[in-house]
Amino acid sequence: MLSPDSTPNRLSLSKAPEESQPNADLSGAREELLSKNSPPGFHRGLSLPGLLEIFHPHDLSVVQDALSQVTHAHPETVFAVGSVARIKRCFSKDLAKLKGLTPEGRGAFVGYLGELASLYLQWNDCARVHVQLAYVPFRLFERDFEGAGFHRDRRLRRLLTSPDAPGFDWVLPEEVNEEVLRQIEKGKEVQGLFKPGAEIKSLPQGAVALFRGSVLPHRTPLWTGSRTLIVVDEG
Ligand SMILES: [Fe+2]
Repeated sequence: MLSPDSTPNRLSLSKAPEESQPNADLSGAREELLSKNSPPGFHRGLSLPGLLEIFHPHDLSVVQDALSQVTHAHPETVFAVGSVARIKRCFSKDLAKLKGLTPEGRGAFVGYLGELASLYLQWNDCARVHVQLAYVPFRLFERDFEGAGFHRDRRLRRLLTSPDAPGFDWVLPEEVNEEVLRQIEKGKEVQGLFKPGAEIKSLPQGAVALFRGSVLPHRTPLWTGSRTLIVVDEG
């Protein structure tokens, strides 16, 4: 899965950026608060405290329309770090470079990125966020064995969503054989990842996941169309 780029330039081509070391785990108080109150602009989906919280935006149509205006010839990643206001300022400037995006579309998209950053800050007590936007115009993932692609991230607390494609496939940690998962994470082709009764679940298009990246086994979904991926981490 794409993770924050560590290069100094905020606008750069994305290959396989390295993830940073895990951040410290924090108390569940914010999660408890968030599980009881839907943040503005979202309604609650699945809640698995300590593992995964799913939210659904009330209306993504303006953002999806804006994204459909954009034409991308190559994979591209843009990211910004800072407060919500700074995130919005940076993306407003960067997204002006995208071909096909109208000023109205840009405004809607930047507003939505700000909402996602705010949602992340309600869940994780930190001063700055790192928001990454990755466009993949076309990609075909090969799956030559059952558990291919499943992994955990080095980052603990992450927000991930794709307005125009599924977010990720995921399974509960107790549904997989830990040792097999470790081998697959090392790039080995090993059978027997799933325990009996395990079910691969999908984060639907547009849904927003707040999840423990280092705990939740997940993978990029099979998707052959264009995909816009938004990932928020602690900045
Ligand atoms: Fe990942």
